[in-house]
Amino acid sequence: MAGAGISTSAGIPDFRSPGTGLYDNLQKYDLPYPEAIFTLDYLRSKPEAFFTLAKELYPGNFDPTPCHYFIKLLQDKGVLLRHYTQNIDTLERAAGVRDDLLVEAHGSFAQAACIDCSHRHDTEWVKSQIDKDAVPRCESCGGIVKPSIVFFGEDLPRRFGQLVSEDFEKCDLLIVLGTSLTVHPFAGLATMPKPEVPRLLINRDSVGERDILNPDGFDFIRTNRDARYLGSCDDGVWHLARGLGWASDFEALLPEK
Ligand code: APR
Repeated sequence: MAGAGISTSAGIPDFRSPGTGLYDNLQKYDLPYPEAIFTLDYLRSKPEAFFTLAKELYPGNFDPTPCHYFIKLLQDKGVLLRHYTQNIDTLERAAGVRDDLLVEAHGSFAQAACIDCSHRHDTEWVKSQIDKDAVPRCESCGGIVKPSIVFFGEDLPRRFGQLVSEDFEKCDLLIVLGTSLTVHPFAGLATMPKPEVPRLLINRDSVGERDILNPDGFDFIRTNRDARYLGSCDDGVWHLARGLGWASDFEALLPEK
């Protein structure tokens, strides 16, 4: 399961890193609070903010990182049960992760619909509107057309609910990559594997640790169930690939420098 930390080395800011995170760099939008840019109320009041951000983040402007290719390597080795991502940059797809092994839990730019009448719109047309700094308007009712990115308060894609129980019943190793584990229900996935299933956190900060509010969180001290690599995701997956004897297979996946 992954978050924005696996894409920062591609040049896409994460959300909460002090100083560099997106939420520290939205002053120009005069938001009541940072996450407002991903709420429907604010979208209705000031749509320009989200669509300016969408233009910056739109897929196609960035390349996958070694971490994305490591997920592809797990797939090639036949050990990837499923990759749950919070990211909307579709870099897992660009790295070759198969659609059936992917759950884009916070949606993506792959579809677009009117927030009032739900009328679906062509994403190429939506992108053309975004590129010319226009707010895409519904051809049926004039409402705002939003890419199918999950806003705060919206339901996660149906696929998430359809797969999560069975996947975490089968899960025999959970790898958590580049996320602060602050946004539910996605963050709750980290506590879903069975108690005997090992969990590996690869992240710059230690997150998701056990406490009174998170009794099933990571316990890196008292048990040997949970392990952590604190550092860059790219370095962490290289460390893991070498430990697995997969360094040359991993190297072969990476694009020429
Ligand atoms: N290597 C390792 N860890 C990194 C790196 C990196 N190169 N870059 C950032 N990190 C870590 C940060 O230290 C942080 O712990 O990744 C984590 C990123 O956390 P967030 O910025 O909160 O991003 P994420 O967890 O994906 O946010 C979840 O919040 O606003 C919503 O919908 C949005 O999907 C997003 C959700």
